[in-house]
Amino acid sequence: MRTSKRILSAVIALMLAVIALTGQSTVSARNAQLSGKLEIFSWWAGDEAPALDALLSLYKTQNPNVEVINATVAGGSGVNAKAVLKTRMLGGTPPDSFQVHAGQELIGTWVVADRMEPLDDLFKSEGWDKTFPEGLTALLSSDGHIWSVPVNIHRANLMWFIPDNLKKWGVEAPKTWDEFFVVAEKLKAAGVTPLALGPAWTQQHLFETVLISSLGAQGYTDLFAGKMKWTDDKVKAAFTTYAKILTYTNTDANALSDWDAAAAMLVDGKAAFQVMGDWEAGWFLTKQKLEPNTGYGWSAAPGTEGTFDMLSDSFGLPKGAPDRDNALAWLKLLGSKEGQDAFNPLKGSIAARLDSDLSLYSVYSQSAAADWKSNVIVGSLTHGAIAPESFTGKSPDLLVAFAQSGDVDATTAAFQELADSTTAAK
Ligand code: GAL
Repeated sequence: MRTSKRILSAVIALMLAVIALTGQSTVSARNAQLSGKLEIFSWWAGDEAPALDALLSLYKTQNPNVEVINATVAGGSGVNAKAVLKTRMLGGTPPDSFQVHAGQELIGTWVVADRMEPLDDLFKSEGWDKTFPEGLTALLSSDGHIWSVPVNIHRANLMWFIPDNLKKWGVEAPKTWDEFFVVAEKLKAAGVTPLALGPAWTQQHLFETVLISSLGAQGYTDLFAGKMKWTDDKVKAAFTTYAKILTYTNTDANALSDWDAAAAMLVDGKAAFQVMGDWEAGWFLTKQKLEPNTGYGWSAAPGTEGTFDMLSDSFGLPKGAPDRDNALAWLKLLGSKEGQDAFNPLKGSIAARLDSDLSLYSVYSQSAAADWKSNVIVGSLTHGAIAPESFTGKSPDLLVAFAQSGDVDATTAAFQELADSTTAAK
């Protein structure tokens, strides 16, 4: 009896020593005890599912006793998910953790409404103070607290194409919109749609890159900081360019299901180019089995070379999350090197962490990582970095109306009114 007790305490002492020595064991030991459910809410459904699936299966391996509920509401850039989330948050039935863009979408909505838990302790316990770029942590912070965990960095200002098709049509990717107009005439004459375009949010996505090209990185940032008016002549010039670009797009843009339907026009040889974020690289890889450079090509959206229009997907912890401990384990995985390097190579984004293993990433992503270090950074409008939801929720409709009316003066005045009301509401 005494001997077996001694053996048992020796075994326990050994286990404790191992757990104390390796942080990893601490996590596994704790995670094995987690049970119950975990509901993750996002818009990564359908074509956008593979990267999230990789992360969820890692979570299941680490937490075998937790039942994971993958609650997705399809619709690129969260057009539908955000409305469903709002109903749930306001109705007092939040998911355990949800996708939200770093920047104004997070801070200007759920943080100001006091619906989120600060994650300062998590950042401290995980040693994340130097893990992410300072500028990114700033986007996740307000009032001295950090409010979500970033999983990636996406680039919005890219133009995609199929190199073999361009060769066939005898054109090259244009570096400016003026070059595009020349190339577009040639394509049009050959019966090819020069620029594939999807529904309203993708039109705003295109428009923000036109704004960057017309105003430059500083001007674009100034516009959203209220230092430049929407009625400024330079902004009006951007609208004029945008109107001309629209004449080279497919006429059924508003009827397409989403950004990937427009991307399919490139693969099908119906259209030459598409301006879209680099989730398209993830789609080429996971859904089309195309390799960078040989299968698909990219360049900066015309006139935006040297500027990196960024956005970051992050997840937060809503107050009243039903499975708080399980959600914290999710957030830890999300911010970990292992989690980020499993997710991002499939997503087309680069890791938010500074120490990710780039050898796991495609040639495209490696080039994005280099640009992320060397380019001038601006925040995406469409993807929540630079403007609050009260603005981005309404601006796509103004652009759709502009596509019909072509009225630059009325539209820029309407945008200025929207910007004023948004600032007043802050
Ligand atoms: C963005 C999101 C990306 C991607 C894209 C298309 O808002 O940040 O991760 O999902 O929408 O849906």
